Amino acid sequence: MNTQPVILDTDPGVDDALAIMLALGSPELDVIGICTVSGNVPLKTGTRNAQGLLQLLERTDIPVFAGADQPLKRDPVFATEVHGESGMGQAVLPEPSQEVKGDAVDFLIQTLSDQPGEITIIAVGPLTNLALAEQRQPGTLQKARQVIVMGGAIVETGNSTPVAEFNFYADPHAAQIVVHSGAALLVVPLDATRQVILSESNIENQIAPLQTVASQFVVDATQNVLALYRQLGREPIVYLHDPLAVGAAIAPELLRVETLYIDIETSGDLTLGQVVTDRRSLPPPHRLGKPVDCAIHVNAEAFLSLFLKRIF
Ligand code: RIB
Ligand code: CA
Repeated sequence: MNTQPVILDTDPGVDDALAIMLALGSPELDVIGICTVSGNVPLKTGTRNAQGLLQLLERTDIPVFAGADQPLKRDPVFATEVHGESGMGQAVLPEPSQEVKGDAVDFLIQTLSDQPGEITIIAVGPLTNLALAEQRQPGTLQKARQVIVMGGAIVETGNSTPVAEFNFYADPHAAQIVVHSGAALLVVPLDATRQVILSESNIENQIAPLQTVASQFVVDATQNVLALYRQLGREPIVYLHDPLAVGAAIAPELLRVETLYIDIETSGDLTLGQVVTDRRSLPPPHRLGKPVDCAIHVNAEAFLSLFLKRIF
């Protein structure tokens, strides 16, 4: 099997960690670097989480690159209520032995320039690093083989606000730059990711009994989000938002994709970060935004089975 070189751009975050585990457990992918960005938690915390996770998984061969510590323009927002102050729920990661290898934006620009058309970028946090690379070296994102982005909500409600999903809400200006970059883009929005659910029963009956370092990490890391849902009087589950973006690279046949004309709201008080979709039957030049492939449906059962098989 020829492996696909990928760069993961992350804000670890519990589901980012699960996405990293899925990527590392998938022979189709060759993870050549992990970039970090301010998002779920501040940059320093997320970077340490990425390093600590690689230490835990004995994969310190993979370089970590630290990126933007704040969004392009708006004030930073975090999601520690979901991921915990540490960003890793109740999990405790080992002290990293490896240093950060360099700046994430420089790494993205250099690697895409050195290997045009070969690298898949899988971005599962706010898109600040990708936008800065595009601003610093216009045309950079078009050099990627594909840019897969977990973000946005098309028909689904948002999660950070009634209309905005966290990654696009946390840096709407960056999301707009990526949408307009001309890159080979695949957006994996909440419309698809809310279909892939890790239940408390999956964790208790299929993961905890494995009693490995990796399985115990998943059990500990998911405690905060399960407790949050219980407090909200909702079924305790973990949405596999970020792992599904990795799934789009390893098993694209599990996703149904539509090409939609979209743009990102960058100034609305109530609508900041919203994905605005133009479904009017107008000829292309009159449509708002850009035509972007968006995953709208997923074979959730098949993906969950693939996920559980691959991460352990
Ligand atoms: O809205 C879900 C996204 O926001 C995921 O990437 C999650 O990690 C958070 O960053
Ligand atoms: Ca994330």
